[in-house]
Amino acid sequence: MDLESRTAIVTGASSGIGAATARALAAEGCAVTLAARREDRLEELDASIDGQTLVSPTDVTDPEDVQAMVDETRAALGRVDTVINVAGVLHPEAVAESTEAAVREQIDVNLEGTMRVTRTALPDVLETEGDVIAVSSLNAKHPAAGGSAYTASKFGVNGFCRSLRKEVGREGVGVTIVLPGEVETEMSQWDDGEGRPLEPADVAETIVFALTRPDHVTITELDVAAAERL
Ligand SMILES: NC(=O)c1ccc[n+]([C@@H]2O[C@H](COP(=O)([O-])OP(=O)(O)OC[C@H]3O[C@@H](n4cnc5c(N)ncnc54)[C@H](OP(=O)(O)O)[C@@H]3O)[C@@H](O)[C@H]2O)c1
Repeated sequence: MDLESRTAIVTGASSGIGAATARALAAEGCAVTLAARREDRLEELDASIDGQTLVSPTDVTDPEDVQAMVDETRAALGRVDTVINVAGVLHPEAVAESTEAAVREQIDVNLEGTMRVTRTALPDVLETEGDVIAVSSLNAKHPAAGGSAYTASKFGVNGFCRSLRKEVGREGVGVTIVLPGEVETEMSQWDDGEGRPLEPADVAETIVFALTRPDHVTITELDVAAAERL
C-alpha cells in the first residue's frame, strides 16, 4: 500500500529509531505526528523534514497528553490511520540492585505507553483499517542478564500486540511487532568491538516495508538483527 494518503503517529520521534522512522515515512509522502517529550528536538526534526508534519509534545505515561495528541492529529492532519509505538527507556540493572522507580518507568513507558497510545487511537485506526506497529526488542526473544524489567516490558509488548491482532486483524487492521537487535542510538552505544550495530534507519526501513505490503498481506513480526553481532 502506498503511504501518500496516510497519517501516522510516531512516538519517540525526538531521537534514534523514532526520528528515523518519522523521516522515512515523510519521505514516502505520509503525514506524520512527531510525539515525544522534548519539544526542542521535535521542532528541530520538523524543520529538517520536507513534508506534512505536526509537532505534538507528549508524555506517553500521561493519558491526557496522549488523548490530546491523538485529537490534535485528527484535527490538524485529517485522520489517524497508523500508530507507530517507538517510545522507550532502558535502565540496565541486575534484579538485586533494581529500584522501584526504574522498574516502574520501564513498564510505564515501554509497555503501558504502547498500550495507552494504541488504545486511544484504536477507534480511528479501526475506522480507517490502518496499522499498529510496536518496536519491541530481540531481548524479548533472547533475554540477557541485567535488563529484566526492560525485557519484561518488551515481552509484554509482544503479548499485547499478539492479543490485539486476534481482536482486530480480521477487521482490516494490521498489527506488526518489529524486534531490533543492537541499534546505535542515545539509548545504547555499541562500540564494544563485537561488530557493527544497526543504524536507526535500518529499523525505519523495516517499518516502511511492513506498511507497504499489499492489502491482503500482513506482516506480523520481524526480527532485525545486526549481521556482524549474531
Ligand atoms: N537501541 C537499541 O539497541 C534498541 C534495540 C531494540 C529495541 N529498541 C527500542 O527502540 C525504541 C527506540 O529507542 P532508541 O534506541 O531509538 O532510543 P532513544 O534514541 O533513546 O529514543 C527513545 C525515545 O523514546 C522517547 N521517550 C522516552 N520516554 C518517553 C515518554 N515518557 N513519553 C514519550 N516519549 C518518551 C524519547 O523522547 P523524549 O525523551 O523526548 O520523551 C526518545 O524519543 C525503544 O522502544 C527501545 O526499547 C532499541
